[in-house]
Amino acid sequence: MQRNLLLAICGLIVAFGGMSWVGQAEDQKSSSILRSIPEGPLGDAIRLGRDLVENTTSHRLSQPFVGNALNCTSCHLKNGTDPQAASFLGVATAYPAWSPREKTVITLEDRILNCFMRSCNGIRPPLGSEVSVSISAYITWLSTDQPIRMNPERPAGPHAVPQLKVDITQANRQRGEGLYSVRCASCHAKNGQGDKENPPVWGARSFNDGAGLANVVQLASWLKVAMPLDETDLTEQEALDLAAFVNSHERPKFQLSEHLPPKEQLGTFNSELKMEEADAGR
Ligand code: HEC
Ligand code: HEC
Repeated sequence: MQRNLLLAICGLIVAFGGMSWVGQAEDQKSSSILRSIPEGPLGDAIRLGRDLVENTTSHRLSQPFVGNALNCTSCHLKNGTDPQAASFLGVATAYPAWSPREKTVITLEDRILNCFMRSCNGIRPPLGSEVSVSISAYITWLSTDQPIRMNPERPAGPHAVPQLKVDITQANRQRGEGLYSVRCASCHAKNGQGDKENPPVWGARSFNDGAGLANVVQLASWLKVAMPLDETDLTEQEALDLAAFVNSHERPKFQLSEHLPPKEQLGTFNSELKMEEADAGR
């Protein structure tokens, strides 16, 4: 009798657990994450990839390839599941894609590895390495059931941040400075160095000047959809002024040769660029 009661309670717990799982699956449907993580080693790789995207600076596998205080999720908010802020949703459908920066067709894996060199100011992990394959597996999983549409223009997925149509000559750093102290300094600190929870936005521990966000219009476009974290309500002009102010500070200089591993660990650096060209073309 008691045993039956226990079984009934267990049954209820399972039923409720199951219901909340269904609820979650429904929520996820709306943000186009359609499937649960597959069983077995592929599932392990996807979970590892998600962990690396979230804990890039501290995970033992990715940490050697990161040269600053930023995790992938510092910019790809909510591990890339935020639908607006440099979303990873649907990204895998766009690759292989033409990349004007590398002047060649690149794979999703290339795109990921290049972010280590620029946004993370680190060293490009080897193609086919555990870091590379597991992050690719995670990002590809986030495109489950989405139709392939390779991008012939730029390496960007269907939900890439829309580029603001703003005139950069209208950017006003002084206004940006005022806005920064009111809207940003509470988290990123007045000196831009952040703290344990909030990443640095300029200086030696931030992204280098070869990163996408080092471009004022690109930073403005990202700020418009991503910051302030708790209330993304900047006008286009405010985003532009803030981007001009943030990027008026020193950050590491990008020199391609300093970000490639020794030749035997590189695999292929998929680019038609000569070193000097790469360093010049930011
Ligand atoms: C300093 C901010 C920043 C960091 C850190 C960063 N990225 Fe990015 N990344 C960007 C921006 C901005 C883009 C352009 C995104 C867009 O247009 O939506 C981008 C683009 C990408 C893309 C292509 C997206 C697409 O739409 O095709 C991938 C893949 C990517 N990043 C992976 C990573 C990974 C993996 C890491 C960590 C190793 C990382 N990024 C770290 C800012 C960053
Ligand atoms: C409530 C705290 C908060 C506020 C306010 C805020 N941010 Fe952030 N910001 C964050 C956090 C946290 C991240 C990293 C995202 C994550 O880890 O989830 C971030 C990421 C960033 C990044 C990309 C990573 C890096 O460090 O370069 C930039 C750039 C940025 N914020 C700029 C701004 C600007 C400009 C403002 C003001 C308009 C602002 N933020 C307001 C908390 C905040």
